[in-house]
Amino acid sequence: MQIQTVGVVGCGLMGSGIAQISAQAGLAVVVREVDEAQCQKGQGRIAGFLQKAVEKQKLAAEEKDRILGRIRFTTALADLASADLVVEAIVENLDAKRELFAALDGLCAPATIFASNTSSLAIGDMAAATRRPERFVGLHFFNPVPLMRLVEVVRTLDTAPDVFDAACAFGAAVGKTVVRAKDSPGFVVNLLLVPYLLDAIRALEAGVASKEDIDAGMKLGCGYPMGPFELLDFVGLDTTLYIADIMFHEFKEYRYSAPPMLRRLVAAGRHGRKSGRGFYDYAR
Ligand code: CAA
Ligand code: NAD
Repeated sequence: MQIQTVGVVGCGLMGSGIAQISAQAGLAVVVREVDEAQCQKGQGRIAGFLQKAVEKQKLAAEEKDRILGRIRFTTALADLASADLVVEAIVENLDAKRELFAALDGLCAPATIFASNTSSLAIGDMAAATRRPERFVGLHFFNPVPLMRLVEVVRTLDTAPDVFDAACAFGAAVGKTVVRAKDSPGFVVNLLLVPYLLDAIRALEAGVASKEDIDAGMKLGCGYPMGPFELLDFVGLDTTLYIADIMFHEFKEYRYSAPPMLRRLVAAGRHGRKSGRGFYDYAR
């Protein structure tokens, strides 16, 4: 099963990275966003990342242009009809994702593989909105996609073995190490990472230390590249809140419950780096 054309739906933090690494692997990419402004924002994010790579002398300028030339942006879902694989990276909301996949199911060829980049939703709940549950997988990439070396490939009860193998081969083709996981909320990484991030907020709420000291503690004490508050801002506080609510709903365990401070920050529009302000201020 040869994947030559990749459809990517959503070109935010994750979709832009997935589109970029697919084009870097030589594949043709079609990216669907909700409107022209979001298309341009997504294209700018990819171009900016590649430009930085050129400046760091990790990429030739001509290669940057070739990569960008392989990515086509559209607002029309029908333009994904010819994709061999469609990777969804829209908002972390089951209804929105089910609606999208049901529409794609009517547009794409029966052989097209569908994949979700969800952080916490059950892949099977999305697959059930289509007539191709055996051609449905999870492809969970990590932020920032071009730099993080992992992809979790997730199989449901229905995923066909050849589809799972094709998804693993795609992960390897875009340069990632593949970890195979079953369709359990949070898969491997978020099952462990999300309680840690939420506990950091609880420690801040309890006045254990300042956010700066908690970040310094985890970076210098554990060798993590970012402290929990830096990472929360990087992932997006809105996305983290969606993930926490979904995982809490699934497991009914305190460690997945969203701390009030997280809910207040999201309600105030402080979504992290992408909105200019989260736990830290990026507007300076
Ligand atoms: N193009 C090419 N290479 C680039 C680049 C670019 N535009 N930007 C940076 N790099 C390279 C750098 O050259 C450097 O490479 P070398 O080590 O070979 O020198 C490397 O990437 C690191 O870059 P920087 O030194 O500029 O930046 P940094 O050291 O601050 O690292 C980071 C940045 C990789 C993001 C690092 O801070 C990190 O790993 N943070 C943690 C990220 C993380 O945990 N992500 C997972 C989030 S959870 C998730 O995604 C799942 C979910 O469902 C929520
Ligand atoms: P984001 O908010 O940065 O981007 C989402 C994008 O999807 C927006 O640009 C929005 O305009 C677009 N969109 C919404 N509905 C759409 C539709 N119907 N068609 C086309 N585009 C649509 O979010 P993100 O951080 O990129 O997260 C996307 C997905 O990836 C979520 O499921 C999230 O849980 C998951 N994820 C996020 C991270 C992270 O660190 N942020 C890591 C791994 C996985």
